[in-house]
Amino acid sequence: MRLRSINFASDMAKITFQFEEKNRASMEVKMFEGESILDVALDHDIHLNHNCGGVCGCSTCHVYIEQGEDFLPEMSDREEEYVDRARDPKYNSRLACQCRLSGGGDIVVIVPDQSGIIGH
Ligand code: FES
Repeated sequence: MRLRSINFASDMAKITFQFEEKNRASMEVKMFEGESILDVALDHDIHLNHNCGGVCGCSTCHVYIEQGEDFLPEMSDREEEYVDRARDPKYNSRLACQCRLSGGGDIVVIVPDQSGIIGH
């Protein structure tokens, strides 16, 4: 009997969503190259505000990248401008709509508590 190793496609990654919200369990899902963190969140019924519709025109899709920033594009000046307006920005803050997977690798994201954000 011949055993085959399972290879993950290089254009695929695992993304783990953790939540600031108390008592909410983390969630692990697949993410494909070109998808944004916002796309993946919405596809898996994770509530993440996105008032401008994902065009880098607000800061409601703000998240913290705990791991895997190397697999995401660098932050643009425009994104940086909006990140600065987010609630409680930190060194690892990003806008989920601007973070499109650019390679295979694990990503860990913390979703801020959405209850204090006016949005949809
Ligand atoms: S949804 Fe508005 S900047 Fe991401």
